Amino acid sequence: MSRKKNPILRHRFNQKNKDIFTEINTSIDFDKFMFNEDIEGSIAHAEMLSKQKIITVLEKNKITSGLKKILLEIKNNKFIFNPELEDIHMNIENRLQELVGDVAGKLHTARSRNDQVVTDLKLWLRKDIDLILTELKVLKKIIIKNAEKNIDIIMPGFTHLQTAQPISAGHYYMSYYEMFMRDTDRFIESRERLNKNPLGSCAMAGTSFKIDRFETSKKLSFNGPTNNSIDSVADRDFVIDYLYASSTCAMHLSRIAEEIVLWSSNLVKFCEIKDEMMSSSSIMPQKKNPDAAELVRAKASLINGNLLSLLNIMKALPLSYSKDLQEDKKLVVDTSKNLHVSIKVITEILKGIRLNKENMLKAALDGYSNATELADWLVKNLGYSFRKAHQISAKIVNFAEINKLRLEDLSLEELKKFDSNINNNIFKSLNIKNAVLSKTSYGGTSPSEVIKMIKKAKKINK
Ligand code: ARG
Repeated sequence: MSRKKNPILRHRFNQKNKDIFTEINTSIDFDKFMFNEDIEGSIAHAEMLSKQKIITVLEKNKITSGLKKILLEIKNNKFIFNPELEDIHMNIENRLQELVGDVAGKLHTARSRNDQVVTDLKLWLRKDIDLILTELKVLKKIIIKNAEKNIDIIMPGFTHLQTAQPISAGHYYMSYYEMFMRDTDRFIESRERLNKNPLGSCAMAGTSFKIDRFETSKKLSFNGPTNNSIDSVADRDFVIDYLYASSTCAMHLSRIAEEIVLWSSNLVKFCEIKDEMMSSSSIMPQKKNPDAAELVRAKASLINGNLLSLLNIMKALPLSYSKDLQEDKKLVVDTSKNLHVSIKVITEILKGIRLNKENMLKAALDGYSNATELADWLVKNLGYSFRKAHQISAKIVNFAEINKLRLEDLSLEELKKFDSNINNNIFKSLNIKNAVLSKTSYGGTSPSEVIKMIKKAKKINK
């Protein structure tokens, strides 16, 4: 089907646009993704216009049935998008004119593309956030499951990537649960904040037509209309909120991705990833590479870049609408695509990941991760200040390291050389399992605490 070009906004001009103008001005390639929402918004607007007797019921019926036809055409790949018609809004309006004739021109009464585009984008983001929330829920459930399964695995916790203290692998997993829970909250909050209807703000001043913005708000499931027509068309905070929530979530995903890369490396061997989520090398036959996790790491950078791009577009932009705002869609689509794939990839990797219990325990045993237990024992049993206990313990670690021994392998006689008051009870505290079991402070790594947190998490994520 070929359709003649009919740029409907060129009546003030004597010249056709230069191709290079069309190239910079057109947005159809990156805003046609909002076709559903554009039609949804237009139908709500037409129904409101008819209810307010600004157009007749017959006119409304013609317009809405034309819009529904267009929806099918687009869904069935029958719609021809024309870059000279600039964007999704004009492409649909132009097609409506072809389908239902001049009555199509009545749809834009008491509306502008400036409020239309914000409405469309808010509707789209709302749905996308709902999808992200569903995907995050699947991820959180896998994390909770892994935490439960690995609660008794002992691994070294790190600070500065140096061995710090022994922890439960379940506790480690649950730390990521907390991050994705905060991401969930951030998306819910940004969805709530964006849920005000800008439609009816028109170009920027509102309108003299007797429209009912509460009616369109109801039809489009917004919490109510926005309060200021100037701000309504100039505001992109809701996009920044979305991009920020996405960046933070992607940053969390990149941290777990980095640990997957590190842990699956031959140097560390803390985990194994299933073959189905790995690729090989074109030259080295032995290779199993964690490409997917590496790409999640990189995608976080792209998502961060999009947030910064929009912040820069918005900075010092005079009120109200300027064409600069058109570029926001590119950033949204790109962020959305990268975030969805990243959440799903990490979910898939975590579904099949296998922790290497022996190597984790060995790393915890080898790294003097129980040195704090030694110091704590001196405080609790000999009444020393923590500083004094710290100094004695550091000397004992030095001695053990020189002699290539673990703390728990030192003899009582050797320990007594550093403080004659040390007695046999100390060995119970130095036991790595006991070290983990003893961390019963609220939110600590003791399995008893971790189980409590898992229970809480399960309740929230039913
Ligand atoms: N495609 C435009 C955008 O995305 C729609 C609004 C056009 N408004 C205008 N005054 N030219 O921002």
